[in-house]
Amino acid sequence: MKNETPSYETQELREFAEVLRGRRTIELFLQTPVPQELVNEAIEAATWAPNHHVTEPWHFYTIGEAGKKRCLDLCKDIVTEKKGEKAGTFKRKSWSEKPGWLVVTCVRSEDELLQHEDYAACCAAVQNLLLYLWKAGVGSKWTTGDITRDPRFFDIVGIDEAKAFVAGLIWYGYPKLTPTQSRKDVGEVFTELP
Ligand SMILES: Cc1cc2nc3c(=O)[nH]c(=O)nc-3n(C[C@H](O)[C@H](O)[C@H](O)COP(=O)(O)O)c2cc1C
Repeated sequence: MKNETPSYETQELREFAEVLRGRRTIELFLQTPVPQELVNEAIEAATWAPNHHVTEPWHFYTIGEAGKKRCLDLCKDIVTEKKGEKAGTFKRKSWSEKPGWLVVTCVRSEDELLQHEDYAACCAAVQNLLLYLWKAGVGSKWTTGDITRDPRFFDIVGIDEAKAFVAGLIWYGYPKLTPTQSRKDVGEVFTELP
């Protein structure tokens, strides 16, 4: 039997790294709808995230047009309550241009360590989802804004607040504009110990 490790100098691996590096948070989307089948596939791929004790603490909700309208009205109310009517109307309009709406929840736990690990697993699942969509040409924005903690949002989505919390509201769609980003040089965040 040959005692060889797999090559890490492959085109496939370089392309994979390009997906990891190239994914950007998208603010501006085209209004072209994303096929539901693709979203379903991304959700299925998301569930293969690493997950201590395989608790599978996540739940995914896609929000259709009726739910989206309720979210937009709520968004307007939340912003109006904080910043006034004009700001509320402006925000509602900008959110109405987010084509796809998806919510990822995490099961609540009284056990602090388990909660920590379950939330980490949900975040890994979200990243799987975003990368899968990105590879298919679909951009996204993960948000944890005020709406994701508002009881009225839980009502719209049908989340039992005692049992779960929102790990992210994800907007998705084909990007109108892909912004640039930067990261620290890896040497600044990486220490190789002997
Ligand atoms: C847990 C989490 C919550 C986030 N919440 C918000 C948010 O509420 N508003 C926002 O503008 N961006 C939010 N983002 C997106 C980040 O701002 C974004 O990832 C960051 O600017 C880096 O850009 P990139 O994703 O293009 O690399 C969130 C990202 C994560 C991981």
